[in-house]
Amino acid sequence: MGETPRVPKTDPRWVAELTGAPVREVAEALTEATKERALEEHVQREHRAAGREFYAEIRAPLELYALARILKPAHIVEVGVSSGVSSAHFLQALQRNGRGTLHSIDFPTPQKSTRFSENEDSPVALPPGRASGWAVPSTLKQGWDLRIGRSEDLLPILVDELDRVDIFLHDDLHTFEHATWEFQTVDRKVPSGGVVLADNTNWLDGALDRWASRWGSVPVRRTGTWLCGFRKP
Ligand SMILES: C[S@@+](CC[C@H](N)C(=O)[O-])C[C@H]1O[C@@H](n2cnc3c(N)ncnc32)[C@H](O)[C@@H]1O
Repeated sequence: MGETPRVPKTDPRWVAELTGAPVREVAEALTEATKERALEEHVQREHRAAGREFYAEIRAPLELYALARILKPAHIVEVGVSSGVSSAHFLQALQRNGRGTLHSIDFPTPQKSTRFSENEDSPVALPPGRASGWAVPSTLKQGWDLRIGRSEDLLPILVDELDRVDIFLHDDLHTFEHATWEFQTVDRKVPSGGVVLADNTNWLDGALDRWASRWGSVPVRRTGTWLCGFRKP
């Protein structure tokens, strides 16, 4: 049976606002992302092989790819990997850029038994035998700085090691306190023009808006999702 990958509609305006890039450049990056069919097919094949029709993941992976292609980051930090949809798209873009490192932190949530149960399991639960980032193609894993443990323990250490964080993505424990703590922890390394992103902002009680307002910014929302971000002035 043929694969029918879900290619999400994209939001070029969101990427343009976050990067300040002209719409033409954004459109080119998004077209390039859309052509990376092999990556989408790989991720979906891995999910299905693990017995999962649905997996909680970032719903704007092509925009993450475009952000990384346009901003040419030296360092991306993401917290919350799970199967690795956001990671795979960042890694693909960095590979195309020919420079830059993705640093990811994940404290995985194991599936309770061999069969996924909607009632008992979190939609991000790791199927048995799988590890964080299990859907990322092995061709993208070289040079990936993946750290397993709680953000509370690992993020301060990672941030101390880096001279800058050009893109930060919060996608782990979605509470006001935790997200605010993460923004505060990375903030001193986010340069002017750096981008701070958070998924599921509807669960954050305004944490990202409050953080952005300290910089005189207002987060921009990716259409159809609760993924929001702002660019540091
Ligand atoms: C929504 S998933 C990440 C999805 C991923 N960004 C993607 O696009 O596929 C959230 C992940 O964060 C992990 N997590 C939850 N709390 C954490 C914490 N305190 N520190 C690190 N990881 C955590 C969960 O176990 C899960 O693996």
